Amino acid sequence: MSPMFILKDFISDSLSAANASDPVAALMDLLRETVGRADALLTALPETDADETLLHASEGLTIYDIKLPPGILYPPHNHRMPVVIGFYAGCETNLIYQVSADGALKQVDRLDFEAPTVTILERDVIHAITNFGDTPSRAIHYYLGDLLEVERDLWNPASGQKGPFDNDNYFGFATSNQ
Ligand SMILES: [Fe+2]
Repeated sequence: MSPMFILKDFISDSLSAANASDPVAALMDLLRETVGRADALLTALPETDADETLLHASEGLTIYDIKLPPGILYPPHNHRMPVVIGFYAGCETNLIYQVSADGALKQVDRLDFEAPTVTILERDVIHAITNFGDTPSRAIHYYLGDLLEVERDLWNPASGQKGPFDNDNYFGFATSNQ
């Protein structure tokens, strides 16, 4: 990576990493380097008020910059592909779920990610994300596939009902984390 942070170069470096023999390891290495340069990264990212900014989508890799405002608990969902996440500002909490034998969703873990740090969610992880802090948390997400095309699941936290992932429902099912 060049000394200056250039978004176009970051995306092409990410695509090279996604094509490496061990894409998860290569993407994690690239993100470890990137989350240590939060100021440069913030300067390079497009200016937007949106919480989710799509930076790239292709068959093998989808890249989002995601900002989580404090206080909101987003509903449980899966991705059907590995996800490598580089947290570069604030603290994000992941609630991890499993489907019980009776089909009910059950929380089995809670992970707090304080920036700067990098993590990997395996292919079938079900999580809900929230920010218990008082400043927005921010992270680069690598989805190892085309997230815009994959069929995946979203759970309604009020009813426990599973349905197809849908962006309107994702934001519609969000609640307070208090
Ligand atoms: Fe997710």
